[in-house]
Parts: sequence; C-alpha cells; structure tokens
Amino acid sequence: MADRRDFLKASLLGASALALAGKAGADTAGSGKPAGGARVVSTWDFGVAANQAAWAVLARGGHALDAVEAGAMVPEADLKNHSVGRAGYPDRDGHVTLDASIMDADGSCGAVAALEHIAHPIQVARRVMERTPHVLLVGEGALQFALEQGFPREELLTPESEQAWKEWLKTAHYQPSANSEVRDYGKTGLPGGKDNHDTIGMLAIDASGRLAGACTTSGMAWKMRGRVGDSPIIGAGLYVDGEVGAATSTGVGEEVIRNAGSFLVVELMRQGRSPQEACHEAVMRIVKKRPGASKDLQVGFLAMNRYGEVGAFAIQPGFSYAVCDARKQDGLLPAKSVF
Ligand code: GLY
Repeated sequence: MADRRDFLKASLLGASALALAGKAGADTAGSGKPAGGARVVSTWDFGVAANQAAWAVLARGGHALDAVEAGAMVPEADLKNHSVGRAGYPDRDGHVTLDASIMDADGSCGAVAALEHIAHPIQVARRVMERTPHVLLVGEGALQFALEQGFPREELLTPESEQAWKEWLKTAHYQPSANSEVRDYGKTGLPGGKDNHDTIGMLAIDASGRLAGACTTSGMAWKMRGRVGDSPIIGAGLYVDGEVGAATSTGVGEEVIRNAGSFLVVELMRQGRSPQEACHEAVMRIVKKRPGASKDLQVGFLAMNRYGEVGAFAIQPGFSYAVCDARKQDGLLPAKSVF
C-alpha cells in the first residue's frame, strides 16, 4: 500500500513538473524571457511605484519576500491612495481597518485582518509569520501584537477620508439596528470599480528563482464594521507555492473567498495552465456561479509561475497590472476581461 502511495505521489509530481516545463518560454506579460531573471508584478496603476521599491531589493540580489514587503509599503504610505493603508477609506462607522497578508515560497505565511491604528499592516503580517506560531491575527489582538512589536499607534483617518465618509453618509441608506443595509455607491464608487479599486497584490521572483507574495488593503470603502475581505485570507487574496507559482486578487473579496480564488489559480497552474489561462478560468468560475451579479462586480486575478511568466484576467475592463524587470521598470499593462 505504501509503495503504491509513493508511486502515485511520484507520478503526480512528475506530471506537474512536466506540465510546467512544457509552458516554459511563453511570456504572457510580453516583457521578454523571464527565465532566471528577477521580476515583480502588482495590481493596478499604483503598482508601478510599488514595483520600483520592490525592484530596488531585487536588483541588488535581495530576497523576493523582502521585495514584496518593501513594495507593498509604498501604497500603504501614500496619502492619495484611499484603498490601501493609512489613507484608506473607513468602514461605514468611520473606522479605518486594514487587512494584509504575506507568503513565502515554502508555505510560510502571516496575515492581519481588521487592524486599526497601524500604518503598515504588511509589516505586522510578516511579524505574525516570523514571530508567532499563528497565521492570522485579527482586530484588537492584532493591534495588541503590533504595539508589543513596537509599531506606533496612529490615527489613520485623514481629513480627506473623513470628508469623503461624511459625504457618503449623506447618501447611504442603512439600518444598523435592523442589521441590514442598502448601499448606494454611485456608479464610479462600485467596489473594485474604476474609482474604488482596492488592494495591492504583489508577486515577485528573485534572481535565485524564489517566489513570494504580499497583499494589502483597507478593503471595501464603507464596509460593515468587522467585514474582512479576501486580502488577508491565505488562498483567497494570496497564495504562493514555490513548486508552481503565485497568485493574488483584487476586487470584491467576498466572491474571491467563496471560490478560494488565489489557491484555485495556483492549482490550475499546477495542472498545466499558463498564468493567463489560470486567471481566466478562475474568473469564469466566479462568473458562472453568479451570472447576473457578475455584471456589476469586479474581480481580477494576477499570477506568476515559477518561471516568472505572468498573466492576469478580470471580470470588468479597466483592471491593469504593473510589471517590472531588468528590461523595464515602469510597465503597466491592461488585463483582458470578460466584458
Ligand atoms: N479585495 C479587497 C477586499 O475585498 O477587501
């Protein structure tokens, strides 16, 4: 029996490796031959600046994990970015709550959810990974851990975010006492839409071929208090497997969680799909389950396999991703989409 199990395991591993090897050479990012070269990719236009910080680490031969942490900190600190980090829009009750996760190629990972008063949740996520026996800390406990680790407690609600929240309150119709709400985001405020696009998801491969990923967000603007999206959920907003590749997501986190989105993308790559094919298939899985609703929601996936090949796909048009490698440091590409 043990022999048969070992044989099956060896066969499956061999099949995966062959499938991946068969895909080597294709480069869906169109940025040249990636094999052996470092590369970092991230979601949205704000990924361009984030990539440059990550590239500073990769270009000196640094570790992919250090690169994605450094990169993710850029939008976290950007006061103009209202969907990530310290200037993120608050929940419907006016609290800025941040979610983040980080993952290494060997499966090590850490995350924080609903973290308040700490400007760089990605750093706290890494501390969870490296200094606790746990993977995910939430809310008060995450804040307590961050303070114990020496992170400063700060007021994150900026005057601009507070003003935007107060404007939204004028038009929002919700009934907290009835535990129900009707949201009115307006057209451009659609979560994951053009002006409410959330989350930086960042994937990197370093010069030694090591993969890592990071994901950080303030989540959906005006969310219910206590709501947590996909970004800090390992397998939903982020997944990395050094034998296969890495994936991250952006958009409406609930749909990504329901489908274990990033894990699904990595598993599809394990079965032989290119990063592009895997992202496409994962998006279609969501659309198939929610054919009506998917017309009004955005989910996008970004993936990189262990050869550094990149792919992306989204439900709605407008999702872009930034690519940075030795040839080009400020590339921004549009993702293909269903609609
Ligand atoms: N994708 C981020 C969120 O839904 O919170």
